Amino acid sequence: MTTVMRGTTLLFLLIYMAIFAGPCAPRLHAQGTAFHNAPASAAAEKNPYDGQASAIAAGKTSYASHCAACHGVAAEGTGNVPPLAHGALQGVPDGAIFWYITKGGSENGMPSWAALPAEERWQLVTYIKSMSASATTSSRNQSR
Ligand code: HEC
Repeated sequence: MTTVMRGTTLLFLLIYMAIFAGPCAPRLHAQGTAFHNAPASAAAEKNPYDGQASAIAAGKTSYASHCAACHGVAAEGTGNVPPLAHGALQGVPDGAIFWYITKGGSENGMPSWAALPAEERWQLVTYIKSMSASATTSSRNQSR
């Protein structure tokens, strides 16, 4: 009886893994397709605060209160929540990131941030983009 039970449990475990291992695997961006299907017009929008220190600081504050819980304090990502500080996102145009933050991806667990003022959403983009620079200059082995 016990052996049968164990076998059944193992079978269920295997089925469970087969179903969930796929969707839980790290998601990769399909190269050559627009970022989350951002419209070209949105992607072409210029960041009014590009590289500005005050916007980076404001974005950092906003990030800590709205985004860090999911994306990680250092935007390193975790589980199915993608990193923002490094990886494919750093090559995405600011306008496309702004568009995506506004819209969200509720079917995948990313909330819409349309309720935040546009200024704050651009500041978040500015902060996110500023992280790639610090990630390459500071030691990658140090997790802060
Ligand atoms: C409740 C958890 C959660 C919160 C809070 C959250 N995110 Fe996300 N975010 C996600 C998930 C999950 C994804 C992946 C969605 C997908 O794969 O379609 C994501 C994706 C993203 C992406 C796209 C990354 C990529 O490489 O595709 C950006 C940019 C982003 N989030 C920015 C933000 C910002 C900025 C904030 C704060 C204003 C924020 N997120 C808050 C869960 C969250």
